[in-house]
Amino acid sequence: MNEWQPSSWRSKTALQQPIYADPQELDAVVDELSTRPPLVTSWEVERLKTQLASAARGDAFLLQGGDCSESFDACRADPIEKKLKVLLQMSLVLVYGMRKPVIRVGRIAGQYAKPRSSDLETRDGVELPSYRGDCVNRSPFTAQDRCPQPANLIGAFDRSAQTLNYLRALTEGGFADIKHPENWELDFVTQSSRSGQYHQMVRGISDSLDLLGVIGGVSRSDLSRVDFYTSHEALLLPYEQALTRRAIARDGWYNLGTHYPWIGDRTRQIDGAHVEYCRGIRNPIGVKVGPSTTADGLIELLDVLNPSREAGRMTLICRFGASKIAGCLPALIDAVVASKHPVLWSVDPMHGNTITTDQGIKTRHFDQILDEVRQAFAIHAEQGTVVGGIHLELTGNEVTECIGGSGGLGSGDLVRAYESSVDPRLNYEQAMEIAFLIAGQARESS
Ligand code: PEP
Ligand code: CO
Repeated sequence: MNEWQPSSWRSKTALQQPIYADPQELDAVVDELSTRPPLVTSWEVERLKTQLASAARGDAFLLQGGDCSESFDACRADPIEKKLKVLLQMSLVLVYGMRKPVIRVGRIAGQYAKPRSSDLETRDGVELPSYRGDCVNRSPFTAQDRCPQPANLIGAFDRSAQTLNYLRALTEGGFADIKHPENWELDFVTQSSRSGQYHQMVRGISDSLDLLGVIGGVSRSDLSRVDFYTSHEALLLPYEQALTRRAIARDGWYNLGTHYPWIGDRTRQIDGAHVEYCRGIRNPIGVKVGPSTTADGLIELLDVLNPSREAGRMTLICRFGASKIAGCLPALIDAVVASKHPVLWSVDPMHGNTITTDQGIKTRHFDQILDEVRQAFAIHAEQGTVVGGIHLELTGNEVTECIGGSGGLGSGDLVRAYESSVDPRLNYEQAMEIAFLIAGQARESS
C-alpha cells in the first residue's frame, strides 16, 4: 500500500461533496489555502488528546457545543462572545457538580459545512442544489445563491481565523477570569429560573478559590485563563486536505484547521473517503454513531482509525434518539468493551430527536433531549462504563428553536426567534438546564 497522504482520500468515494462547475477553480483555492498559516498547533492538539484520554477514563468531562452550522454573518463579536459565555457558564456548573475538570470544545471556528439528505431541493417545481453550509453556497432559494463557489472556502478559512483569534484573546485574558464570572453573564441570565441556583454556585466556587489562594498558593494567572478548543465536522475534504500539515518537530500529519474534527453519521463508511482521510491524521477524532451502526462495523471502524489503540484518539458521539438509545447502545458498549479499544463515550441528544412540525419547521423537544441524556447515563452506569462527554447544538442568543424546557416554549413560539438555517439549537436557558441535569446526575451516582 502507498504511504498515506492528505490527498489519499481522492481514491475513495467521497459522499456529501458539492459539485463545482469549475474543478480548476477549486484546485486553485485548495492550493491557496495550503499556503496559509495553520489555525492551531500540534502541541495544542496533543494536549487536547491527553485531556480526552482522561475524560475517557472518567477523570474529566467533555463539553462540546455550538451551532449546527456557523454562518458567515455571525462572524461578529457579539455571537462569538455569547457562545463562549454559555459554554463557560455550563462548564462551571459541570465542574462544580461533577468535581472534575471540564474540557471545553466549541463547534466553532470552522463548522461551516453541512451534510444533507438530498443533493437537490425542490420548491414549487423548481429544483436547485441543496444548501450545504456557508463554505459551499448560500441558503436563499435562488440559482445564484445555491451555486457552490470555491471562493467560499477562503471566506470560511478567514472567518475561522478571525473567530479563533477573538476566542483566544477572550480565553487568555480577563474575560474568562474565574474570579470575575460577571464578565460572562448574559443580559437575560437574571430572568432565568436557574439564576438563583447559578449565582449561589458561583459564590461557592469563588469562596473556595479564595481559600485555595490563601492556603494553596494558587496564583491569579492560573485562574484567569481557560483552555478552549475548536471542532468541526471534517466533511468537505478538499478544505480539510488543504489544512493538513506535517507537524513541526514531531512525526506525522495533523489537521491544523481545527483541534478536533469529527466524522458525521452519513460519512462514516469504512471504505469511504472521510474515514480514509481521518485515518492518516494524528488529531483526536470524533465519530457520530447513529442507529444504523452495527457492533462489528463499529469495531472495524475503530481498528482502522485507531490501530495502535492510542488513548484519547477516539470519541464515539452517540446520537440515537430517545426512543432508540436503549435498543442500540448496550450492544455497542459490549462490543467496544470486548475489543478493548479505549474510547470516550459522548452523548449527542440532539440529532436523533429532530422532528418537523405540521407547519414544516424543524424542531426538537427538550423533554426528549433530556430523556436521551438520562438514559445514556443510566445505560452506562449499568454496563460499568462512563459517559465522558456531551455534544450539543446551542447558542447564546435568545432563540426559540427547540420546544419545551423551563421557559415553556411551545410550537407556536418557534416562529418568534428562529434563526438557524439548519438544525434547531438550544437557547441559553435550555442549555443551562442540561448542564444542571448532568451535574445533578453525576452527584447522584457518586
Ligand atoms: C451535526 O452534528 O450537525 C450532524 C449533521 O450530525 P450527524 O452526523 O450526527 O447527523
Ligand atoms: Co446539526
